[in-house]
Amino acid sequence: MNPPALYITHRLPDPVMDEARRRFRLVAEPTDQTPAPAELHQGFSQAEAVICTLNVTVDAALLAQAARLKIVANFAVGYNNIDVAAARARGIIVSNTPDVLTDATADLTWALLLASARRVVEGDRVVRAGAWSGWAPTQMLSAEVTGKTLGIIGMGRIGQAVALRAAGFRMPVIYASRRAAPSPAPAWKYLAKEDVLAEADFLSLHVPLTDATHHLIGERELERMKRTAFLINTSRGPVVDEAALVAALQNGRLAGAGLDVYEREPAVHPGLIGLPHVVLLPHLGSGTFATRVKMGMICLENIAAVLNGRPAPNRVG
Ligand code: DGY
Repeated sequence: MNPPALYITHRLPDPVMDEARRRFRLVAEPTDQTPAPAELHQGFSQAEAVICTLNVTVDAALLAQAARLKIVANFAVGYNNIDVAAARARGIIVSNTPDVLTDATADLTWALLLASARRVVEGDRVVRAGAWSGWAPTQMLSAEVTGKTLGIIGMGRIGQAVALRAAGFRMPVIYASRRAAPSPAPAWKYLAKEDVLAEADFLSLHVPLTDATHHLIGERELERMKRTAFLINTSRGPVVDEAALVAALQNGRLAGAGLDVYEREPAVHPGLIGLPHVVLLPHLGSGTFATRVKMGMICLENIAAVLNGRPAPNRVG
């Protein structure tokens, strides 16, 4: 019997590609580049299953080409790139990769928090440029982290993992979320978003991108934050109004930012590039080898389940 036809939009780590080849027939050889629209249409039209990444927009038009398609397995926990209602209307299952990337993303959130507060990237640049003339008591002074207040918006799996790590820095945690977290730490305080904005020294965003969270942080919200505060975003770029953030950073309305995600990836607002007190990463949240392998294997498990007539373990929508 012919193995089922699988379209993978981007090259995945080797163990995942090996397993995919063992179990399925690949309809195209993926690379690191996002396929051109014509290639995407062709891949979707030939496949019974697709693994796609967050930089592929799976809209009604693309799904309309996909006569044989049974499942789109998104290689991400967020699935704002997929028109889930259009998929449902065509009987196509959509799945995601929750849980396995929680720790990697929480770790990277802390890397950004620490790097932006303690000027890690700026310091590295000084050393590499040969501009370090020796230790000095007033050189590159930075913000304190330990004991400061961590504000979190969106207390789902990743928000909670970020909050748990705050204990090591003796940081009180305040948060706003759709519902109170089943908190193992009574020190986490559930507040209105306005109060989290006003009281946080570090504000970290962990909401999914939906119509309701688009530009959740804009000019008004940035105005409410402390001038000494830092904004950390490892969720989705459009949750922040990037132009308003640039203006706030340029006007000294905010002390700094650590960003892993952008409104129009891979484009980055030119205003951010010139700001020394901002740390910019190329969407690396889940980007450890082990995590990306687990994400790929979860995609394959969901596909195998659906093609064998079983429910997808990580169905969304
Ligand atoms: C996700 O899974 O949503 C992450 O952003 C991918 O790195």
